[in-house]
Amino acid sequence: MSYYPGKNKDTLWWRDGVIYQIYPRSFADTNGDGIGDLKGIIGKLDYLSDFGVDAIWLSPVYPSPDFDFGYDVSDYKDIAPKYGTLDDFRTLLKEAHQRNIRVIMDLVLNHTSTEHPWFHEARKSKDNPYHDYYLWQDPGKNGGVPNNWLSVFSNKTAWEYVKECGQYYYHMFAKEQADVNWRNPRVHEEMMSVFRFWGDLGVDGFRLDVFNMYFKDDQFRSNPRKFHLIPFNRQQHLYDCDRPEMDGIVQEIRQTVDEHPDSYVVGETFLSTMEKVRRYCGEDKLKAAFNFSYTHCQWDAGAFRKLIAEWEELEKDKIWPVYVLNNHDVIRSTTRLGLGENDERLKIAAAMTILLRGTPVLYYGEEIGMRQTRLKRKEIMDPVGKYNWPFHQGRDGCRAPMQWNNQKNGGFSSGKAWNAIHPDYPERNVNAMLHDPKSLWTFYKDLIRLRKENRAFQTGDLQLIDSDNEYVLAFLRKTGTQSALVLLNFSQLPAKVSLSEVSGVKNWSRKFSNKPEKISAIEKDSIRLAGEQALVMIGR
Ligand code: NOJ
Repeated sequence: MSYYPGKNKDTLWWRDGVIYQIYPRSFADTNGDGIGDLKGIIGKLDYLSDFGVDAIWLSPVYPSPDFDFGYDVSDYKDIAPKYGTLDDFRTLLKEAHQRNIRVIMDLVLNHTSTEHPWFHEARKSKDNPYHDYYLWQDPGKNGGVPNNWLSVFSNKTAWEYVKECGQYYYHMFAKEQADVNWRNPRVHEEMMSVFRFWGDLGVDGFRLDVFNMYFKDDQFRSNPRKFHLIPFNRQQHLYDCDRPEMDGIVQEIRQTVDEHPDSYVVGETFLSTMEKVRRYCGEDKLKAAFNFSYTHCQWDAGAFRKLIAEWEELEKDKIWPVYVLNNHDVIRSTTRLGLGENDERLKIAAAMTILLRGTPVLYYGEEIGMRQTRLKRKEIMDPVGKYNWPFHQGRDGCRAPMQWNNQKNGGFSSGKAWNAIHPDYPERNVNAMLHDPKSLWTFYKDLIRLRKENRAFQTGDLQLIDSDNEYVLAFLRKTGTQSALVLLNFSQLPAKVSLSEVSGVKNWSRKFSNKPEKISAIEKDSIRLAGEQALVMIGR
């Protein structure tokens, strides 16, 4: 079977469409408990459908004690009561599918909550049948930790001692998230059954949380050291991730996911690099994997160009790129890249993300330019912020309630919202932007439509164009019958751009821009762009 069925298929939802990540806790609350729920998502499906999304990815909605807000699962095959019931989930699937929206589940299979029944058993004694579900080691010298592995959350040892069984267990994240032992055949089987459970229910795809960490060195060797300011980065992570067993497991996951045709599987690559994307994706491996350099890139056309070029260097018929500017772990791009209240830069970033060759994954609130919220130390709930304040303020600020309207809690909840809403919600909200033809929301929606209506943006090849101007990112998307040129001026100053590289393309019949009043005529082989103008021209 060919990996990339696009070679044979005209349409593929996960390749041609736009994915929208929902952080369910913060999206829409229908029962007034201050936490979003499945019924809230169902109530917003018309909104999502009208906006143009093809799939939603739900951050975890499984039962969880929420030490890491759902990324510490205590039951893989149920829905947490705070979000609803399995029946609500079935309704969500049905309603989403009726609107042609696919549903992607977030699978957190590297670790469970220490409140998972398996761990309750595992910690009791070395002889307990569940003990080997986790990674245990005897104490090292003088009763100390078994090796130098660190937790990425605390920057301290990743080992936690349990008196009852006299051993340490390993946790890459919080101590409330114990890493499971994928070498244990029973664990392996349990995890594969999780894919089947949700796949059989009708789910269309999976996002795999830190999948490349499933296996750790079987000899538990300490990582070699290197120089860096942050303790976790002071090690080369040779032995705590990307172990050789990963190659077999991604193949098995792919086979399992393929039991439901057209299913998608995208990996969240821990300590991501393009090398890892190349290693884990392909014909018989994952369909896609994130590379987070894009979320850390500065506002620099050249830097983004370099990243895009790296995606383009991957084998085109085997690996389909995926572009993500925002998620629940990073500072919102509005605050990272934007300039104050001005949304023009954000429009440039949106045009880039949605019109590149690859799947764009948007994050709730990105479409209205939600800014990062700032929390006082005592308000911080995220373990990363709790452990690392003031060096890291945690991730609560990118997980604030969705700003739907100018009512109480921005229309998110009638109760006391679990997390602070951004104070700008009375002005910056969906309702306010929906009917404004110049709003960021309208621009996103138009971009999505542009992508949908023009094959060049879905399956077309991508050619980076040398624009003669370091502030302008230019690329051409091309199918056999259509060409689309995207010119993005990252600078506030006007720019003159040479089009000599694309002079072969004729009949730019359609033009689209965030500044339509400033579209210039082509003079010989060049065109003028206004400051922070995104200009798209479509021709043959
Ligand atoms: C990656 C997730 O994106 C993050 O939110 C979570 O804290 C860790 N994995 C642990 O599951």
